[in-house]
Amino acid sequence: MPLETRSGLRYLRAMHSITLPRPDDWHLHLRDGAMLKAVLPESARHFARAIIMPNLVPPVVTLDDAVAYRDRILAALPGGMAFEPLMTLYLTEGTDRADVERAAASGLVKAVKLYPAGATTNSHSGVRDLTKVMPVLEVMARIGLPLCTHGEVTDSHVDIFDREAVFIDTVLDPLRRRLPELRVVMEHITTEEGVAYAAGGGANLAATITTHHLIINRNHILAGGIKPHYYCLPVAKREKHRLALRKAATSGLPRYFLGTDSAPHVDALKEHACGCAGCFTATNTMSLLAHVFEEEGALDRLEGFVSHHGPAFYGLPVNQGTITLEKRPEPCAWPEKIHAEPGPVTVFQPGFPVHWHVVT
Ligand code: DOR
Ligand code: ZN
Repeated sequence: MPLETRSGLRYLRAMHSITLPRPDDWHLHLRDGAMLKAVLPESARHFARAIIMPNLVPPVVTLDDAVAYRDRILAALPGGMAFEPLMTLYLTEGTDRADVERAAASGLVKAVKLYPAGATTNSHSGVRDLTKVMPVLEVMARIGLPLCTHGEVTDSHVDIFDREAVFIDTVLDPLRRRLPELRVVMEHITTEEGVAYAAGGGANLAATITTHHLIINRNHILAGGIKPHYYCLPVAKREKHRLALRKAATSGLPRYFLGTDSAPHVDALKEHACGCAGCFTATNTMSLLAHVFEEEGALDRLEGFVSHHGPAFYGLPVNQGTITLEKRPEPCAWPEKIHAEPGPVTVFQPGFPVHWHVVT
């Protein structure tokens, strides 16, 4: 029997079942070719839409690139599955303003991604000098096209654990003072500084939070032996930051929403002397989030985080369909690996049993 009704959805007695509008992932890496084919169903099974990262080789820079990539994604989607890729352009110092304006007008491109050059996987074509892209950012501010930021400075003198906080102080805040109308998504925030900055940023600022940053801190990566499958960028920080992220995600505040940053790399490149950054969470994110939100006594706020806050920021409707999760005595048994043709991809393992099963 329903105990109470919120937003027209039912939360059953003792919260053993939860039904939400179909969620979206506001930050996802799908790659291309055989890897795309292998990982796309993992997202499409649970998510109606996702913001698709453009850091391919070569990157998705122009509207034409985005149209072609979107077609490849849709062609890779198994029959009977529905999924809408929300495309992004990779900002370079050569990006053409008119093309960005056309891309936004097409309705197909929903954001432009800023990678500081060298910050992460395939970011070498990113931005070295922000003044070079100001004309593009001015156009985006005028037309309301959001900028998604990989918020880390790349200066080798800045400690890797401080790179997000320094980015906020030296890049993001000055940029937003100069262009207050620019709509910005702070992608995958990992620090209490990120949480606080997003909280005070007004209607033009939002932040995505990944699943894995709600679960691991830097000890999980480094203590008791190095765990390459927990390594991602921005790297997980100390425990107080993980707790700040949990508080933000479960706060019910609309400026925080889910962006998994699920990022497949084959095991051979993760378990390597110079391992790639990325956690692959597409398969089990919804179960993990239900677990985390329940731990925080905030299961009723999961719906806002995964289904409402993102569409509200991007000016899109909430999805029509629903997803249902049930808490069962037996733990979830998701696959350890996704078998892609280029090699196996390890699914993120939280290190504890999870009982929230996605049932429809
Ligand atoms: O961990 C990450 N992996 N962080 C990023 O910013 C990029 C991503 C990837 O593309 O592998
Ligand atoms: Zn990413």
